[in-house]
Amino acid sequence: MKGIILAGGLGTRLYPLTKITNKHLLPVYDMPMIYYPITTLVKAGIKDIMVVTGGNNAGDFLRLLGNGKEFGLKRLHYAYQEGEGGIAQALSLAEEFAEGKSITVILGDNIFSGTVKKAVDGFSKVNSGAKIFLKEVAEPQRFGVPEISGGKIIKIEEKPKKPRSKYAVVGLYMYDNSVFDIIKGLKPSGRNELEITDVNNHYIQRGMMEYEVLAGWWTDAGTIESLYKANELVKKMRKKA
Ligand code: G1P
Repeated sequence: MKGIILAGGLGTRLYPLTKITNKHLLPVYDMPMIYYPITTLVKAGIKDIMVVTGGNNAGDFLRLLGNGKEFGLKRLHYAYQEGEGGIAQALSLAEEFAEGKSITVILGDNIFSGTVKKAVDGFSKVNSGAKIFLKEVAEPQRFGVPEISGGKIIKIEEKPKKPRSKYAVVGLYMYDNSVFDIIKGLKPSGRNELEITDVNNHYIQRGMMEYEVLAGWWTDAGTIESLYKANELVKKMRKKA
């Protein structure tokens, strides 16, 4: 299984912190944000990783991460996203890297306390369809929110005003290789981006989407509030270790 970290975007919700650097290079307690998704993939047994980034500071990723030696990797792969096309557009840049196989995708600002190794191993065996993770959150309207009926997800809504469940779809997704064809057929959303939620809804419509509720804590770090919370959660975790 190959892993793809999506670390582009302008990070406008963090202005002015992101005026002169990329969001994923900002500190979360004692490490740059991008260290966390890399560690999540490595802990899940994924060693073949591509970082997709963009903007003016893309070169800093190379300086910071190099070949990924610090994470026990032989080398890291990089792709450059031009402009602001959204998460699904960033993912499309990894098509050749995926070499026709299944992939695990993680958003560069998502921090997980636990491991998803079991799910990744399970998906590697099945190798078809998609799998996502849900987590109960206080403000589902900030996220992709699933509507669940009879134990199945029937639809995901992106940042709904009236959420149909208390769950967020977290930023870690497993897809078979048809994901790249799905992206080719997407149309830009209201915010003029190719949305990962639209990709997920495709799999749901085909009855090819599995999910599980994530164990352990999870947070994004893309807003001032969630970045602050991420710092606190990591600090607590370090003190316990
Ligand atoms: C993205 C996705 C959203 C998901 C979230 C997780 O939102 O679009 O579905 O729940 O990541 O962090 P963004 O934070 O990019 O607006």
